Amino acid sequence: MRWTVAKTGAAETAGDLLVFPVFQVKDKADLSPITSLTGGHGPDLGPIIKSGGFKGAEGSLLPVYCGGVKAGWTLLVGLGKSEDVGLETIRKAAGHVAKQARKMNAAQVLVAVPATGAVAFDDESFARCWVEGGEMALSPIGEMKTDKPKGKLTPSSWKLLASADRVADMRRGAKEAEAYAAGCLFARELVNAPPNVLTPIALADRAKAMAKAEGLTCKVLTVPQRKKLNMGGILGVGQGSRQDPRLISIHYKAPGKNGKKAPSFALVGKGITFDTGGISLKPGANMDLMKTDMGGSAAVLGAVMIAARLKLPVNIHVVVPAAENMPDGLAIKPADVLTMANGKTVEVLNTDAEGRLVLADGLWYAAQEKPDHIIDAATLTGACVIALGTYFAGVMGNSGDLIDTLRQAGGETHERVWPLPLVDEYKDEVKGTWSDLKNLGNGREAGAQTAAAFLAAFVDEDTSWAHVDIAGPAHTNAPQPTCPKGGTGFGARLIARTMQILGS
Ligand code: BES
Ligand code: ZN
Ligand code: ZN
Repeated sequence: MRWTVAKTGAAETAGDLLVFPVFQVKDKADLSPITSLTGGHGPDLGPIIKSGGFKGAEGSLLPVYCGGVKAGWTLLVGLGKSEDVGLETIRKAAGHVAKQARKMNAAQVLVAVPATGAVAFDDESFARCWVEGGEMALSPIGEMKTDKPKGKLTPSSWKLLASADRVADMRRGAKEAEAYAAGCLFARELVNAPPNVLTPIALADRAKAMAKAEGLTCKVLTVPQRKKLNMGGILGVGQGSRQDPRLISIHYKAPGKNGKKAPSFALVGKGITFDTGGISLKPGANMDLMKTDMGGSAAVLGAVMIAARLKLPVNIHVVVPAAENMPDGLAIKPADVLTMANGKTVEVLNTDAEGRLVLADGLWYAAQEKPDHIIDAATLTGACVIALGTYFAGVMGNSGDLIDTLRQAGGETHERVWPLPLVDEYKDEVKGTWSDLKNLGNGREAGAQTAAAFLAAFVDEDTSWAHVDIAGPAHTNAPQPTCPKGGTGFGARLIARTMQILGS
């Protein structure tokens, strides 16, 4: 979709649908920006809107035809009470509008941006969230259906309308949002792709294509190359599948001559393109959801795409260990001992705890470049879903500062993370009997923390590191105002925003 910001008046601007985001005051809609709209040359909209029962409640919509405005159709969207309006309220409102505009087949949508004096954010943030919400709400699904509607999808262009003094701020917000939304949509597209299509090799191909389009360098390590590096984790998990595993590595360099001094990040994403559980086979019910087990890789690939588009002043190394976890004659089995790239030995007690095995090698590989920060994202444990549900990802690590920044960033992007404790007792639980480590804790308790404790063994104590367990929020079973059913792209905007904060 094309997004522009214009300073033309609402009634005079040509378009198909003129949108008014409306606050609620007490139990009534604040219609002051609308009632004077036609300057007395059209109908008085006040009584019409009231008779439609529209009170400005959050998420409510009312389309009204108005002869006195050039666009003809107007659409009111409720924002709720100004004191309750946050950034996500704006994204959601834009999402509701985008879907209604599509229903009405409106190609050009105009938005009369309300005054932001009464809310806790500025015009730039309004524009950013509106554009993000509108783009994200219409992210495509059902791409493989053969009866897709033909022709151009609506809306095709949006204009945010505001007075001349507000335009520059809003343009900045809208531009940034386009990059953020694109990264999120890319991540969703990867998560939604079926696992027979998105094999580890296909994931590497898509990462390569994205890197090329964004001007990044991409290297893909094949099996013999990883054998040389003794990556027993990735090779072990991949050996039960006919689909070869891959290790994807992408570099983004901060632009400008001071780029070398910019903070450096390693982003490691779990790229299990399908998780059957392996020999420790998962039950059949809902196993289809395990196509989303590469959600961490989608998040880090989306994040680097955003960083590249915004030319963020940070250096990034993305590492994606990609494999398919299958049970076959060659598959790893409980009691096997693997030797990882860092030389540590690991007893596999459950082949379904495969994410930590591939991440261990990924984290080691990322650490070779001595980054300032390491962030890994992974759909790692069902235990994290039990603990936090789907609204929050779990975050653990060795740096309170990095965790705090992730929490701040997640508050802004509405990809919320919540800290879980990572203390030595959990690290003791993953010490092995026959080997250095085992890939399980003692029983089912604290499964998210014992998984993180396992990862900690592959991270240098002195490097700031955070692990984000996105098993809950990586996908949604029901459509949301800014996300259709399926992959949410969770983590892409969160990690990009975290790097933006730390790079500024
Ligand atoms: N991919 C799963 C985790 C998962 C669960 C992701 C639910 C998304 C939704 C992971 O590989 C796994 O199976 N973990 C096991 C670990 C256990 C065997 C220690 C789990 O959480 O049950
Ligand atoms: Zn598993
Ligand atoms: Zn998994």
